[in-house]
Amino acid sequence: MTNPKHIAFILDGNGRWAKKRGLPRTLGHREGVKAIERTLLALIDLKIPYASFYAFSTDNWKRSQEEIFGLFDLAKQYFSKGIDFFNSHDIKVTFFGDLSAFPMDLQIVLKEVSNKTKNNKTLVTGFCLNYGGREDIVHAINSLLKENKKLITLDDISKNLYSKNFPDPDFVIRTSGEQRLSNFQLWQISYSELYFPKVLWPDFNKKYLLKSLKVFSKRKRRFGGY
Ligand code: IPE
Ligand code: IPE
Ligand code: MG
Repeated sequence: MTNPKHIAFILDGNGRWAKKRGLPRTLGHREGVKAIERTLLALIDLKIPYASFYAFSTDNWKRSQEEIFGLFDLAKQYFSKGIDFFNSHDIKVTFFGDLSAFPMDLQIVLKEVSNKTKNNKTLVTGFCLNYGGREDIVHAINSLLKENKKLITLDDISKNLYSKNFPDPDFVIRTSGEQRLSNFQLWQISYSELYFPKVLWPDFNKKYLLKSLKVFSKRKRRFGGY
């Protein structure tokens, strides 16, 4: 089977990675960012054109203020310092989720990185921040209601999701061995192949990506046909 066009990653296991080493969870997230950077380069090498990354869910607000603000700081640093990296590798950065809930300084950084990378084409990324799959669908329906739509089609919904410029994910990879979706792209993954490797996200690298692609290549997708 050909390689997936869109891989959706659920970045899980940062906390356990840190715990195993007796480190604070925030350090696990810091290592997780390095794994994102490695994965972006590996995706480009392997000519995968779309990737999305679930990095902060609408339910992650349940965590401690310390962890949440640590994540915001990390995102601010990563996306402001990363602009040169994204541009030198022709990576377009977009965001899925309600960013208006974030502190203004973070919102400004996120807006800037998406503006400054908007013409890049080699790898199109969607970072899912304050994202939930159900929320995505409700957000799409509310956009349609604003247009006074009376009858909503499947296509209407797809075209109003945060992922409207992406093909549906062919492949979902959730690291850390947890076998659940945790409210991720529920509409978009109807026919995605799912894979749950045990590796913790901060340890993810090109070798694991290649192994994942090998798993994908053995799957037989039928989409309801034969
Ligand atoms: C994933 O790692 C990153 C976020 C959800 C922000 P976790 O923080 O969920 O790590 P575990 O699941 O506790 O190991
Ligand atoms: C899913 O991971 C969300 C992200 C990776 C951002 P969680 O660690 O929050 O999910 P649960 O709580 O194990 O379902
Ligand atoms: Mg987790």
